Amino acid sequence: MDTSMNVAVIGAGTMGSGIAQVAAQAGHKVVLFDTRREAVDKALTGLRKTLDRLVEKGKFTAEQADGIHGCITPASDLKDLAGSGLVIEAIIEDLGIKQKLFGDLEGIVATDTILATNTSSLSVTAIAGGLKHPERMVGLHFFNPAPLLPLVEVVPGLATEPDLGSRMVTLMTAWGKVPVLCKDTPGFIVNRVARPFYGEAIRIYEEGIADMPTIDAAMKSVGFRMGPFELMDLIGNDINFTVTKTVWEAFFFDPRYKPSFTQQRQVESGRLGRKSGRGYYSYSDGAGPAFPNVAPPVAAPIIERILAMLINEAADALFWQVASAEDIDLAMTKGVNYPKGLLAWADEQGAAHWLSVLEGLQAEYGEDRYRPSPLLKHAARGRKRLF
Ligand SMILES: NC(=O)c1ccc[n+]([C@@H]2O[C@H](COP(=O)([O-])OP(=O)(O)OC[C@H]3O[C@@H](n4cnc5c(N)ncnc54)[C@H](O)[C@@H]3O)[C@@H](O)[C@H]2O)c1
Repeated sequence: MDTSMNVAVIGAGTMGSGIAQVAAQAGHKVVLFDTRREAVDKALTGLRKTLDRLVEKGKFTAEQADGIHGCITPASDLKDLAGSGLVIEAIIEDLGIKQKLFGDLEGIVATDTILATNTSSLSVTAIAGGLKHPERMVGLHFFNPAPLLPLVEVVPGLATEPDLGSRMVTLMTAWGKVPVLCKDTPGFIVNRVARPFYGEAIRIYEEGIADMPTIDAAMKSVGFRMGPFELMDLIGNDINFTVTKTVWEAFFFDPRYKPSFTQQRQVESGRLGRKSGRGYYSYSDGAGPAFPNVAPPVAAPIIERILAMLINEAADALFWQVASAEDIDLAMTKGVNYPKGLLAWADEQGAAHWLSVLEGLQAEYGEDRYRPSPLLKHAARGRKRLF
């Protein structure tokens, strides 16, 4: 697979425009298609501005920038994708619409064209479900903004040809990305393992243990670039709530992922975060939130509880063989900028420590939400490392 392979990107929104840029920067000819032609035009105008800025910063010469921009051809008809070796879909997150698109595509592209989906929350296996050749379908989950965040989760579905995952890992590495291979399970790695960062922070707030700025400041004090509430406001509470709800439902309502009323009310009131000027914090004066200095005795129990839940989630993903320990830690550092990989972090205090924190929470609340992963128990018993 080399740069002579034509790439097509379907959907010229937030993700598709970024993915098209990444593929063009890697030297591919890219066809960009959207049912709304104006979305393609907007993406190309946006890319021109981005490239001009990068030229000003000295990242590219003007010729290189022109070359990258010139690699992307707008398309107004799905038939224009006929010569593609790889098609990456980044359209609306709707199973029926994605299935219909891939069904239509099968009648246009060659039988060996690789079909990839950028879905965040749907099953790759389900999207490939109606295909005549589901073996050439794979998940390529980029993170927003795709040109800046290095992580790509490569997700083979049940029917995916055995070596397609590793071929995509090689291709994504050639594109300058950091690929991780993961099983087709809800939330893949990042959107599953990160759930407690938000969910447990909200629980701590709901119980009146600490206010939002204190919880955010505590987490920032151990190296998280943003606190949970600050980050939810940036992501958008509507998007974050939908991901939480989707993961919870996809895990057949496992209480570990249960959404909160606090976040639901934020969404219902239109307090979506930065984009609406108000979320957990107010952004109307342009300043954003201020964070207090939090004394270590106040910060420590907050950090310990959220971290214990995150570590438990990472250990459980490893237990269920969602991905290797290396890829789980890489995903959280390269996809969501965690200061350290959670499994390596767990080993600093040892599995027995985290197990006792979780057992304490489970005893206190009597909730299945706090059940420790079997892997954490095995590691604590055998004094083994998780990473
Ligand atoms: N936004 C994120 O942070 C993010 C991150 C990772 C993955 N994703 C996933 O990427 C996909 C796209 O998300 P987005 O945020 O870029 O959405 P978006 O709304 O910004 O863009 C989607 C684009 O797809 C187009 N479209 C809709 N139906 C189409 C069809 N049938 N054929 C062709 N074009 C069609 C729309 O006109 C729109 O321009 C979703 O599956 C989403 O879950 C999003």
